[in-house]
Formats: sequence, structure tokens, C-alpha cells
Amino acid sequence: MSFRTIEWRDNKVVMIDQTRLPGEEVYNEYGDFKSVAEAIRGMIIRGAPAIGVAAAMGIALGAREIIADTHGSFFQQLSNVCDVMARTRPTAVNLFWAIERMKRVAEANRDKDLGSIREILKAEAIRIEEEDLAICKAIGRNGAPLIKEGATILTHCNAGGLATAGYGTALGVIRAAHEAGKNIQVFADETRPWLQGARLTSWELMKDGIPVTLIADNMAGFFMKKGEIDVCVVGADRIAANGDTANKIGTYSVAVLAKENRIPFYIAAPISTLDLSIKNGDEIPIEERHSCEVTHLHGFPVAPEGIRVRNPAFDVTPARYIAGIITEKGVVRGDFEQELRALVGQ
Ligand code: MRU
Repeated sequence: MSFRTIEWRDNKVVMIDQTRLPGEEVYNEYGDFKSVAEAIRGMIIRGAPAIGVAAAMGIALGAREIIADTHGSFFQQLSNVCDVMARTRPTAVNLFWAIERMKRVAEANRDKDLGSIREILKAEAIRIEEEDLAICKAIGRNGAPLIKEGATILTHCNAGGLATAGYGTALGVIRAAHEAGKNIQVFADETRPWLQGARLTSWELMKDGIPVTLIADNMAGFFMKKGEIDVCVVGADRIAANGDTANKIGTYSVAVLAKENRIPFYIAAPISTLDLSIKNGDEIPIEERHSCEVTHLHGFPVAPEGIRVRNPAFDVTPARYIAGIITEKGVVRGDFEQELRALVGQ
């Protein structure tokens, strides 16, 4: 891949600014945890695994910013930093997973001096980023056999290198199939209202020379019915114990259309996207974003001023629509609850 989504460089966090793609490839530098939190909230960085990495790096920055002469004061302030990160976006569980992991590492090293704890937190954040890249490659390896030679794959939103530390989950499966020499092509849903498909998925697949065709969201059914889509692969923001999966708004519609047209619909996601503490998708908190995302396109109004708007950023696809969940540890099918618990040993 010819871009870096996020990295720790010279004690700063560097991120590609996803609000400016595809027009401009700009990398922003962040030196404090509050600006990283703002970047997550403002979608400079987005995508479940990527915001997990950003939160971890933000906490590592926060740990460096803390002025404390006792461990008690340091840990109190670190807890505040974690709270700020946790309030950025509610749906993707990877964010909370990363925050918990950073807290656990800090606690496990409480007996060390503060300088060492700061270094350990920095190393852990970098490890989360490196692991995520390796996990995406494993998801790709496990998912590639599901993509047949000559297949046309429909994807929704961006579950690519931009949504992870690199390579991607859904796009990781597609990349791995392409790298295996399969002659495949992708249909990318534009993904209203934020246009992750139009702006990001199209951009990164074109950059990598993977054939991609952009369609408006309401065209998916048309192409499925005509027999032009062979398989759907999307990412996930949170997967409940029964397999119900939250992903970008519009995913549910794609899954229902896929079932109607007998097209397999797969989720590709790391284990860190599992939330086995919740029984089903009804318990997943759904973020509602600002109405201007619906009423405006690039600052240009496309609806009358004052119109009432709803803007849920995610929906939940019931498990019965999902042919399989592709993880770094293998593909889960059938009884999701039993299989997912077995996968993580719970
Ligand atoms: O609002 P976003 O852009 O953060 O939503 C992203 C998605 O819904 C992705 O499909 C999901 O996070 C999986 S990313 C590998």
C-alpha cells in the first residue's frame, strides 16, 4: 500500500486526513491527546480498527503530557485521558477494546517509575498498530478462498487500509484474492451520507490497481438482480454474541438484498470487534451524527434549510443474513454464538 493511515513518529501521531481525500493526500501531525480525540470525532481518522489504534496512540501522548509527582496523581490523570478518548465515538467497540488494553498495561506496570510507564504505553500503542496490520493480512488469507476467480464483489463503506493500520478487513480479503492472481473486480457503494465508498474505497483500490466501479447506494439491488454481483464483503464496528453486526448505515439493506438474490454476504473483522458481553444487536449503541452530513455535500446545501433530519451512522444486520464472519483466526459460520465463543476461548 502506498499510504500510511496512522503512525507514531518522533513522539507525534501522524494521520492521513481522510476528510480531504480523494482530492488531497495530506498528513496531519498531532502532539497532544485532545487533538487526537478531536481527529477521531471529526473523522480525520475513521474505521473501527483505525480509531482503536488512534485512541491507543492518543493515550500514549496523554501519558507524556501528564505532570504528576505521585503515581496516584498520574493514574488519576491517565484515567481522565482514557475517558476523553472513550467519549469520541460510541459504536465501534475496537475503540473501547484499545482503551481497556492500554489501561491494563499501565496497571500491570504500576510498580515502575513514571518515565518507564510512559515508554511502556508508547510501545503498547505501536504494538497495537503493528498487530492490526498482521491481523488484517490474516483476515485476507482466511477470506480469499471465498472469492471465486472472476468474481464481482460488492462492498459498502470503507473497510480498507484507511479504516485499519493498513491492508483492511473487507478490502484485505479483496486484496488477498487479487494478490493470489484472481481476476476480480469490486463494486463500491458510495455510502451516503459521508461517502466513504466514493471518497475512500474508490481511492485506495484505484491506487492499488484493483478494478473498482462506483455505484450509488440505491443501485445495489439493480445489479444484484441482474446477476452482476457474486458476493458481498463488508467490515464491522461491533459484533454481538449472536453474530448480529453493526456496520455503516446501509449495510443492513445490502444484506437483505443479498439474501433476496441468493448472494453470500460476509463480514470481515478482527476479534477485537467482538463484543460477547452483549447478547444481540439491539444492545449496540448507534451513533447519530450532525444533520449537516445529510443536508450538505461538501458544504453545498442539497436540502431546504430547516428540514428535520435523522442521521444514524450505523445499522445492525441480523445474524441470519450473514453467511460467515471472516476473522484472523478463521471463518465462523452456522451457530455464531457457539463458534465465536470457541474462537476466543470464552
Ligand atoms: O463512520 P466510519 O467511517 O468510522 O464507519 C466505518 C465503518 O462502518 C466500517 O465499515 C467499519 O468500521 C469496519 S472498518 C475495517
